[in-house]
Amino acid sequence: MSTAILETRGLAAGYGKKQIVHDVDLSLDRGEILLVLGHNGAGKTTLMRAIFGLLKPTAGEVTYDGKPIAGRAPGDNVAEGIAFVPQGHGIFRTLSVRDNLELGGFIMADKTRLPDRMQTIFKLFPILDERQQQIGGTLSGGQQQMLAIGMALMHEPRVVILDEPSIGLAPNLVDRVMQSIAEINKSFGTSILMVEQNVRYSLPIASRVAVLKAGRKIYDGPPARLQDDVELMKLF
Ligand SMILES: Nc1ncnc2c1ncn2[C@@H]1O[C@H](COP(=O)(O)OP(=O)(O)OP(=O)(O)O)[C@@H](O)[C@H]1O
Ligand SMILES: [Mg+2]
Repeated sequence: MSTAILETRGLAAGYGKKQIVHDVDLSLDRGEILLVLGHNGAGKTTLMRAIFGLLKPTAGEVTYDGKPIAGRAPGDNVAEGIAFVPQGHGIFRTLSVRDNLELGGFIMADKTRLPDRMQTIFKLFPILDERQQQIGGTLSGGQQQMLAIGMALMHEPRVVILDEPSIGLAPNLVDRVMQSIAEINKSFGTSILMVEQNVRYSLPIASRVAVLKAGRKIYDGPPARLQDDVELMKLF
């Protein structure tokens, strides 16, 4: 059996007649952090949306735990243990931190576990504990990102897809968010598929890296080999 928990084969996606993502093979192994790098407009978000079911792939396969899931509704993917943190957070801006986290756990079959899960999130992000009653939209950018990640973790996903978690954050906060992602991976064994443009802070926590250019994968390998590739590094 493949060691991959989430895999794409020849995946293609786009909008209308415009194809954006071309023939992408990705393989997220159990317990690893797979980083997808690429410039603005490279098709990173389109690829993640096609994997998670927000956009129907035009060709190719997506498998989760060896089962084909391409085109499956996002709600079904969440129920099966895949979480998606969209670019630009996706928190409920008018609701409190606590209410946001509760909504993150809406899919939990056993609601008695809600307080327990919330405590786990608060341990990971103590600032959310302090700000439980604060309205989401009034949190700082970094705090909103932590809340978005916290919401995704409420239902104990096996895979978390993160679309540019560092966007708009000051460097010290980027580092903080990356360390939290590494901690989630390490302490919960969560497999992570993360899109980033910030190479400096994301590369050190990655197990493996794929680079996307104009919708095609142009590199797939260890972070160290990417760093040694002067031509590829020029892209960033
Ligand atoms: N809903 C849409 N309809 C039509 N074209 C779209 C749509 N969303 C994105 N695109 C186009 O698809 C291409 C890839 O966009 P995408 O958002 O996937 O890139 P990205 O790599 O995530 O970029 P960024 O780093 O800026 O988030 C861009 O040319 C974009 O204009
Ligand atoms: Mg994007």
